[in-house]
Amino acid sequence: MSENRIDNVLHETRHFEPSPEFRAQARYSLEDYQRLYRQSLEDPDTFWGSVASELHWFTPWQRVLEWNEPFAKWFVGGQTNIAYNALDRHLQARGDKTAIVWEGEDGEVRRYSYRELHRQVCRAANLLLSLGVQTGDRVVIYLPMIPEVAIAMLACARIGATHTVVFGGFSAGALADRINDSGARLLITADGSYRKGAVVPLKSNADEAAQSTPNLERMLVVRRTGQPVPMQPGRDLWWDESLEDVPDQHEAVALDAEHPLYILYTSGSTGKPKGVLHTTGGYMVNTYLTAGAVFDLKEDDVYWCTADVGWVTGHSYVVYGMLLNGATVLMYEGAPNYPDMGRFWKIVQDHRVTILYTAPTAIRSFMRAGNEWPAKYDLSSLRLLGSVGEPINPEAWIWYFQTIGGGRCPVVDTWWQTETGAIMLTTLPGAHATKPGSAGVPMFGIEPAIVDNEGHELGADEGGLLVIKRPWPSMLRTIYGDDNRYRSQYWGEIPHVYFAGDGARRDADGYYTIVGRIDDVLNVSGHRLGTMEVESALVSHPAVAEAAVVGRPDPVKGEGIVAFVTLQTGAQVGGDELRAHVSKEIGAIARPDEIRFADALPKTRSGKIMRRLLRQIASGEELKGDTSTLEDAGVLEQLRTVH
Ligand code: WT7
Repeated sequence: MSENRIDNVLHETRHFEPSPEFRAQARYSLEDYQRLYRQSLEDPDTFWGSVASELHWFTPWQRVLEWNEPFAKWFVGGQTNIAYNALDRHLQARGDKTAIVWEGEDGEVRRYSYRELHRQVCRAANLLLSLGVQTGDRVVIYLPMIPEVAIAMLACARIGATHTVVFGGFSAGALADRINDSGARLLITADGSYRKGAVVPLKSNADEAAQSTPNLERMLVVRRTGQPVPMQPGRDLWWDESLEDVPDQHEAVALDAEHPLYILYTSGSTGKPKGVLHTTGGYMVNTYLTAGAVFDLKEDDVYWCTADVGWVTGHSYVVYGMLLNGATVLMYEGAPNYPDMGRFWKIVQDHRVTILYTAPTAIRSFMRAGNEWPAKYDLSSLRLLGSVGEPINPEAWIWYFQTIGGGRCPVVDTWWQTETGAIMLTTLPGAHATKPGSAGVPMFGIEPAIVDNEGHELGADEGGLLVIKRPWPSMLRTIYGDDNRYRSQYWGEIPHVYFAGDGARRDADGYYTIVGRIDDVLNVSGHRLGTMEVESALVSHPAVAEAAVVGRPDPVKGEGIVAFVTLQTGAQVGGDELRAHVSKEIGAIARPDEIRFADALPKTRSGKIMRRLLRQIASGEELKGDTSTLEDAGVLEQLRTVH
C-alpha cells in the first residue's frame, strides 16, 4: 500500500433519530438489528440459511460456507437461478405489478410489469441460446440506461452466461480491453445513447473496439437513437429484428451457487482495471437481504437509484437486489441537469418516487444550483433517502435531509464497493440514529475493524485502515483470471482480513466514518479511477514523456484530477489536447481538470515519483514533510509556479 494520508475529518456532533412515524412502520427496529446482528456473527449458518430459504433453490445447499482463505464458497451444493428469483418467483403474487418504470431523456415513459419483463427476458434468453451462447460464456453489455440493459443482464443470468457490463461513457479503447480480458464472443450494444440531447455513438465505439478484439464474433444492436449505423453482415444483428420470432417461454437453468454471475471491471492502483468476479447464490442472498433492509422496502414503494447500470450500484440496487424483492424500480436514461437542474425533482414528482438513492456529487451540484429547483416540485412522496459512492460532507448531508427530504426522511449513507457486492456499512432507517458524514454500523454478517499498517486493531476515534474480518456471501470470489492479484491485494495487505483500501475511524458508538482511499485510486464524482490508468493514457500521447496524476479536493466532484506532465524533447502540445486525449483513451470521466507542464517531476533518489508533494502542490497547500530524499529540489519551485 502507498503512503498513508488519513486526514482528520471535521468534528461533527449532530445526530438525528428516526421519526416515530418512520419507526412505527419500519421493517427493523434497533432491537431487531441488535438481535439479528449478534446472530449473524455467532451463528452465521442459521442466519444466512434463513435468509436464503426465503428464495427459490432448485437443489438445497449442503453447507452455508466453505472458507479456504482467501477463497469462499457459499451455499455449497445448492442450485439456483437469480433471474428466476427476480422474475418467475413473483409472477403469481406480483405478475401485474410494475417492475421497471423507465423514463427516457426525451420524456418518453415505458412500463414493464413483472409478467412483461419476464416475457422479454425469456425471449432474450432464447435469442442468446440461438446465437450459440452457452452456460459459462461471457457476454459484454455496452448499453445506455434503457430497459434492455436489465433485460440483457437477466437473460444472461437465466442461461448462466456471465455478463460484463461496460459503462456507456467508456471509450472504444476501454471497451476493447474489457472484451479482451473477459474473452467474450458476443457484445450487446445500441446504435447510440442520449446525453443532454446529443447522441453518443455507441455503435461506432463498438466498431472501433472490435478492430482489436479477435475473440469477438457477434454484435447485437439495440435501436435507440435511430441514426444510420453500419451493420457488418455475418457479425451484426439488430436486437428487435432478431427477437421477432423468438418464443417467449424459457425454463431458467439450475446453476451451481458458485456459478459466475458477472465480471465488473474497476480501477485499482495499477494501470490495468481489475475484473471483479461475482457468483450467483451468495450475491443473490446478500443483495436481496440488504436491498430489503436498508431501503425498508414496502410493496407500494417506487424506488429510484440514479446510478448507471454500468457500475456496481446499478447491478446490486437497480437490477438484482430490487427485483429479488419484487420492488418497483425507476430507471432514468439521461443527464441530471437536462433540460435543467430541476429534472430529478420533476421525476420524483411525476412518478411519486418514495425512495431516492444517489451520490454526494449529485447532491452537491444540486445544492449549488439553488433551492429554487427542488422548490418547484412536489417532493412529498419521498420517505427515505440514500447516499453512496464517496464520503458525504455534513453540509451536503444536511441539505439533502432538509431540502429534499423535508426533514422527515431518514438518510442512509451506505459504504460498500464493487468488490463487496452489497452494502457493508450503513444505518437501518427505522433503527439507528444518523450522524451526518458517518456511514454507520455494519450490516448483518459483516465484521469490520480499524487497524494500523501492521494489522493491530485500533480503538475508538483512532484513524486507520478499514478491514473486514470474515467472508460474507456477496464478496468477490477473485479477480477474473488472476487469483494471485486477488489474494495479494485483498487478503495479503493485512494477513487474514479483507483489505478495503479505505481509511476510516470508528467512534465510541460504533459508527464508522470513511475518510477516503489510501491507495493510488481517486474518487471523481463517485467514480473510481486509478492514477496509473490516467498516467498511461497520458504517456500514450506521442508528445508526453512522463506523467504523474494526483487528486485534489473538489467542492462538487469530491476529487478533481491534476496531471503533471513532462514532454519529449522538442515536442509541443497544449493542455486541452492532452485532456481530450485522455477522454478518448478512457472516457470523459477521466479527463484531467488541470494539466501542469514541467521540465521534470519530483522524484526520490531511487526514482519514485513523490506523489505526496504533488498532491500538496495540486491543492495549493504549503509543502509539508520531508523533502530531503528529493533528487532535485529545484523541480518543486518550478511545479509550484508554473500554471
Ligand atoms: C469506493 C468504492 C459501491 C458503491 C459505488 C462505488 C468509496 C463508496 C462510500 C460511502 C464514503 C464511499 C470508498 C470505496 N465509497 N461508498 N458511503 N462513504 N466512501 O463503488 O467504484 O467500487 O468504489 O467508493 O472509497 O472504497 P466503487
